[in-house]
Amino acid sequence: MKIAMVGSGYVGLVSGACFADFGHDVVCIDKDQSKIDRLHEGVMPIYEPGLDALVASNVKAGRLTFTTDLAEGIKDASAIFIAVGTPSRRGDGHADLSFVYAVAREVGESLSNDAVVVTKSTVPVGTGDEVERILKESGTPHQVAVVSNPEFLREGAAIGDFKRPDRIVIGAEDEFGREVMREVYRPLFLNESPILFTSRRSSELIKYAANAFLATKITFINEIADLCEKVGGNVQDVARGIGLDGRIGGKFLHAGPGYGGSCFPKDTLALLKTAEDYESPVRIVEAVAKVNDLRKRAMGRKVVEALGGADAARGKRVAMLGLTFKPNTDDMRDSPAIAVAQTLDDAGVSVAAYDPEGMELAKPLMPEVEMAADPYTAIEGADAVVIVTEWDAFRALDLERVKALANAPVLVDLRNIYQPDAMREAGFAYSSIGRV
Ligand code: UGA
Repeated sequence: MKIAMVGSGYVGLVSGACFADFGHDVVCIDKDQSKIDRLHEGVMPIYEPGLDALVASNVKAGRLTFTTDLAEGIKDASAIFIAVGTPSRRGDGHADLSFVYAVAREVGESLSNDAVVVTKSTVPVGTGDEVERILKESGTPHQVAVVSNPEFLREGAAIGDFKRPDRIVIGAEDEFGREVMREVYRPLFLNESPILFTSRRSSELIKYAANAFLATKITFINEIADLCEKVGGNVQDVARGIGLDGRIGGKFLHAGPGYGGSCFPKDTLALLKTAEDYESPVRIVEAVAKVNDLRKRAMGRKVVEALGGADAARGKRVAMLGLTFKPNTDDMRDSPAIAVAQTLDDAGVSVAAYDPEGMELAKPLMPEVEMAADPYTAIEGADAVVIVTEWDAFRALDLERVKALANAPVLVDLRNIYQPDAMREAGFAYSSIGRV
């Protein structure tokens, strides 16, 4: 089966490469000529473990190609995926659908056979209806079905998530759409991945509801962590104690500096806008977004506290380990590190940072921060070390070396990757999240 993937960013490229790996013929299409040129040379536009090898082997097998020519790329494709960006619209927080609609228009004008048009981009409820209207308006004589098929990939684990998904959600309004999608995902049917067929609108909402629920889980445990600090509890024990209840589940209960990334902040905001438009408030999500926003700066203040308070902190220096919103990605979007660094800068504290993958993208976002070549260079002369992202490389720091290089043995662990007792025994003034 031939599949066209319009948009070769994170979602499009990972999905395209994985579909090719399942034996489909995939063309990845993107307007960005330099991105396509680099893909032809085997250079990935994003960092994702295993993606370069997966792309290379499928290009070699002749199942994966790249082009900037949409009309050529969608020719003979049974399924045309729209996987372009839906950023938050400047000013009002609504998802910006202009890229999605532009692709729909171009597909309508270029279509040369019957096809299913699939929205893979995260799009608000009702977008599929509009895509359908645009396609009809184009006057194409071919049969077209518009289907919603949201993605649930996590950055850094995207290939595994694609190949062994918890579920596949397909929102289709007619049998033609369902039939083609069954064929698209047949290799996964055989893996016995559950496939949920539903209406297009329900499918669109499932994506937002899933992300909002996960964001809620994280925010809930983050507030419980704060309470643990006040009452003398241990949030990891509390998370385990509630997570073992099958109705709650243990995942996404790691307390930390607040969620970031390209999805949770943007999708919670877009869901709030939809709820507002339909006059059906989702107050829990409202609270989640607000609490998470405030938390990031609060983390900066926690570091200032560890430096001895506002007066003592002025003029001091902090080593920041980890900048990306989570490990195994170079993605800096809405990373808590940005707000933490900003808060420290506001408090007159200078920051030297190290991140295994994120420094290039971080530089323009945090111009006040000095980027170091490795963790120990960042730590040299620091009055406190703060762990913002739980990269494996920070889990076994040479603590004696840290003490020798730093001005003071102060460590603020915003990801709870060390144990309080062991750190105190090692001579550190150690603070973490939700543990005393
Ligand atoms: C998220 C969802 O997990 C995916 O299912 C979804 O497909 C994706 O958004 C999307 O909509 O495209 P992602 O943003 O890559 O994936 O990252 P997550 O692993 O979900 O982490 C998001 C943030 O929450 C990170 O900042 C992470 O550090 C934080 N987090 C996560 C916690 O603080 N605690 C946790 O227990 C889990």
